[in-house]
Amino acid sequence: IKRIAVLTSGGDAPGMNAAIRSVVRKGIYHGLEVFGIRKGYEGLIHGEFIAMNLGAVADIIHRGGTMLMTARSQEMTTPEGQKNAAAQLRYREIDALIVIGGDGSFRGAQTLSAQGIPIVGIPGTIDNDITGTDLTIGFDTAVNNVVQAVSKIRDTATSHDRTFLVEVMGRDCGNIALQSGVACGAESILVPEIQPDIDDIVAKLERGHQRGKHHSIIMVAEGATSAWNLGEELRRRTGFETRVTILGHIQRGGNPSALDVVLASQMGAKAVEILCAGETDRMTACVNQEILSLPLEVAYGERRPFNKGLYDLANQLAI
Ligand code: F6P
Repeated sequence: IKRIAVLTSGGDAPGMNAAIRSVVRKGIYHGLEVFGIRKGYEGLIHGEFIAMNLGAVADIIHRGGTMLMTARSQEMTTPEGQKNAAAQLRYREIDALIVIGGDGSFRGAQTLSAQGIPIVGIPGTIDNDITGTDLTIGFDTAVNNVVQAVSKIRDTATSHDRTFLVEVMGRDCGNIALQSGVACGAESILVPEIQPDIDDIVAKLERGHQRGKHHSIIMVAEGATSAWNLGEELRRRTGFETRVTILGHIQRGGNPSALDVVLASQMGAKAVEILCAGETDRMTACVNQEILSLPLEVAYGERRPFNKGLYDLANQLAI
């Protein structure tokens, strides 16, 4: 291969810039020409290519968001859009494509592969919901963002003797809620993977109150339940004052953590190595701290197993 292109797709995730930088620099290191595609598959379909040199990725390693911009492309879900996307790559004689994004983005990549375009996916999403990899780029930063926000919420919660329900992102996956809930010492963690026991949450809140606790934090994954309804039910059943904070897109912003930058740098480089070895339909994965190449279909095969051990530990520590 001589020419490769890279795009970011779906929700942005801190560390995507470090992955772009790594793809560009590793590609140039191996004598390849590297192109960036703006705005994900939208930009691919509409021909928004930029030639990338070493300087094009200077000073981005530490920045959140994605310098290539991103999109959730409706057009790429249509056969016509998929055909146009492949045609754009052929027209520019681009031999292979690296897609940084979540499982939806990987499905888009697979439609290109079906048309003969070699592709590699790099898991980049704050949700950490991709099967096959222990970590996705952006998850660690998002969890740290939640922990920082909750430490501020704690100050006001304690001052007012209130119970706070903190709603975090993750779509239908509870990993952000679980990891940040453990890191914050939350009283309860609600995730879509496990049916909540409201009686148990009420009992815990009451026990904490009797011990003289002046605040309680309940971490609610957005896919688990409505934090508003739960807050109201807890207020009704305990008589405690409740408040809801929806952290929203704050979780996706800010400088990536060192862990995310290192992970992104390793995965970007691995993706280039995979293409140089003549492989396609692969994804990079972090398994037991090693960066591996796995078949792309692993990402949308079986659902990623939920870390029940960590969930149980959280409950044991919040007795
Ligand atoms: O997939 C990342 C994510 O932040 C999810 O956690 C969330 O449900 C969704 O994207 C929000 O999407 P949008 O930014 O398009 O509103």
